[in-house]
Amino acid sequence: MRLEHVGIAVDDPEAATRFFERLLGVCRYKQETVGEQGVRTHFLPAGASKLELLEALGPDSPIGRFLSKRGAGLHHLAFEVADVDAVHARIRERGLTPIGEAPHPGADGKRVFFLHPKETFGVLVEFCQSVPTPLEATHVPYRGGHLAAYEQGARAQPAVVVLHGAAGCTALETEPLVRRLAPHVRVLALDFSGHGASGDVEGPFSADLFVDNVRAVLDHFEIGRAHLFGFSMGGYVALEFARCHPERIGRLAVHGTCIDWSEAQVAATTAPLAPAGVPPHVAQSLETAHVNWTRLFERTAAFVHTLPAQTDAMRERMEALSAPVLVSAVDRDDVFPLDAALDLHRRLPDARLALLPGTRHALPALDLDAYVPLLLNHFLGRE
Ligand code: CO
Repeated sequence: MRLEHVGIAVDDPEAATRFFERLLGVCRYKQETVGEQGVRTHFLPAGASKLELLEALGPDSPIGRFLSKRGAGLHHLAFEVADVDAVHARIRERGLTPIGEAPHPGADGKRVFFLHPKETFGVLVEFCQSVPTPLEATHVPYRGGHLAAYEQGARAQPAVVVLHGAAGCTALETEPLVRRLAPHVRVLALDFSGHGASGDVEGPFSADLFVDNVRAVLDHFEIGRAHLFGFSMGGYVALEFARCHPERIGRLAVHGTCIDWSEAQVAATTAPLAPAGVPPHVAQSLETAHVNWTRLFERTAAFVHTLPAQTDAMRERMEALSAPVLVSAVDRDDVFPLDAALDLHRRLPDARLALLPGTRHALPALDLDAYVPLLLNHFLGRE
């Protein structure tokens, strides 16, 4: 359980937003209206938590009544839990009376319920569970088709591009990371050509193609310079992008990336890409996430087969890369050996290394509570 946000009732939302922005050195990153509650919310990051400034949409709304009775000020504390229904039931068993028969939809893609201040020493307490709605895609025109890009966070903040892994996509891999970064930076995630909601193109998959995908998305959003995060193959693309377009990048972070490809590594990596061996329940989620997942798997396997021939060149290029890079991996990665991360860290002239406990390569298995602060410190230059 963690303190997810602090709710503050405000009578002048713009003045309050400006004040807290200056006081904390942050940016409002989201506004949302919850019509049923008669409230408009303004979100600001506050360390690992948030401030939720609450604006009444009418005098008879809950916040309107709060303001007329007590004036602007602290309204509630919100704690995030994994299962809000279970907490609701447990709290009733303890003899407390949650407001409402069951959790209900709140702001920020959450299901919530409240405990009345008369039972909680005068502080309204909210329990919430994230039930995020899918990110909305922007279609970026690309070579007669399109790329799907996902923009989150305040445009005034530094831009961070988030790149998924081979045969992955934003919805399957990077979306939770995107949501965690959005309060702090302007996030742009994209689906590479032939992945996720993006259209495919003629010709084989290559690092050059994916680098060009990133360039097209940055151009579309008129972003001159960005930090880059890449998972696995996305990390390789981030490193290659930095080599091709050094003037367009700030800092890099790569997680679970291998640039050292043997034939044995190719065989191990491509084996799970045989569509016939994919279990039905996995196939079902791939069917939803990608336009054509069997074609994607075939094209990805063909791409992986080209990597051993490029290993020597990749090593040399890494040794010439001047950008600061955060190299990270889990200590018992089931796809790449730990040496892949150690070797990459050693070769890059300006690299930091972060090893996190874990046994699975897959990004959804990464402990974001541990990783996101490292990533933000790296990108925002706090060392
Ligand atoms: Co709240």
